[in-house]
Amino acid sequence: MTRRLDGRKIVITGAASGMGKDIAQLFGSEGAMLFLLDRDAAGIDTVAAPLGAKGLVCDVTDSRGVENAIGQAAHAMGGIDGIVNAAGIFYAEPFDLLSSEKWDRMLAVNLTGPANIVRAALPSLRAADRATIVNIASVSGLMPMEGTSGYSASKAGLIMFTRCLGLELGPNIRVNAICPGSVKTEMTRFIWENPEHVERASSRVALNRMGEVGDISTVALFLTTDDSAFMTGAWLPVDGGFAWR
Ligand SMILES: NC(=O)c1ccc[n+]([C@@H]2O[C@H](COP(=O)([O-])OP(=O)(O)OC[C@H]3O[C@@H](n4cnc5c(N)ncnc54)[C@H](O)[C@@H]3O)[C@@H](O)[C@H]2O)c1
Repeated sequence: MTRRLDGRKIVITGAASGMGKDIAQLFGSEGAMLFLLDRDAAGIDTVAAPLGAKGLVCDVTDSRGVENAIGQAAHAMGGIDGIVNAAGIFYAEPFDLLSSEKWDRMLAVNLTGPANIVRAALPSLRAADRATIVNIASVSGLMPMEGTSGYSASKAGLIMFTRCLGLELGPNIRVNAICPGSVKTEMTRFIWENPEHVERASSRVALNRMGEVGDISTVALFLTTDDSAFMTGAWLPVDGGFAWR
């Protein structure tokens, strides 16, 4: 039986946890060869080993480290024709309490990180017949929410980075973003561990629940296969009905 990612060679960042981990597991089950990156050494090995994938410790903000990791990925897989940028961090604080260090770190991980990965992988992506890049942005990049100025700015930047790359890298490389709403992962543990917070988060969206990682990984799969062959530079809210408000 052919699987939907047979023959594909894909790098996923943030693959030790949450959405990146679930995307790695789904893509692995669909036949992709995978090279998984995360700053969490123990976590990345735990995810990579059962998938028969290579996992490597890499901080996406370290451009030299990224060049080295992407070089290893291209060598190990015989090329790269897919990227999923899922690594991200979130500090929820009003702007007057948000330190410049936290601001810098969010911009570095959430915006410069994907740019480092794409820059290093471009020669491999261009050498492929066709290739895809999926950036995990956020509804926070589409609408203002209290306490998210730094995070929202980083994700709005990532959405516009996606749109510009879509324009520049066609026709052989397609670049799209997913804008998740509130999804149950380590990042949102402070919400889903508290029933009152879950109730508040759910009541704000039309589908009346928080998202699960599988809600996002199926869309990442769609954007990585030819099912989305005429899409590039797009940013898709996957948020249960939240971002239009
Ligand atoms: N969970 C949500 O509700 C939500 C909503 C919208 C967008 N997002 C975005 O989805 C993506 C995945 O987040 P998640 O919810 O799965 O969170 P998560 O915390 O479960 O996973 C994030 C992963 O990124 C890794 N990471 C963080 N900084 C890194 C760095 N500098 N270099 C390499 N790896 C790094 C972490 O180690 C972790 O494994 C993030 O970009 C996040 O901003 C999450």
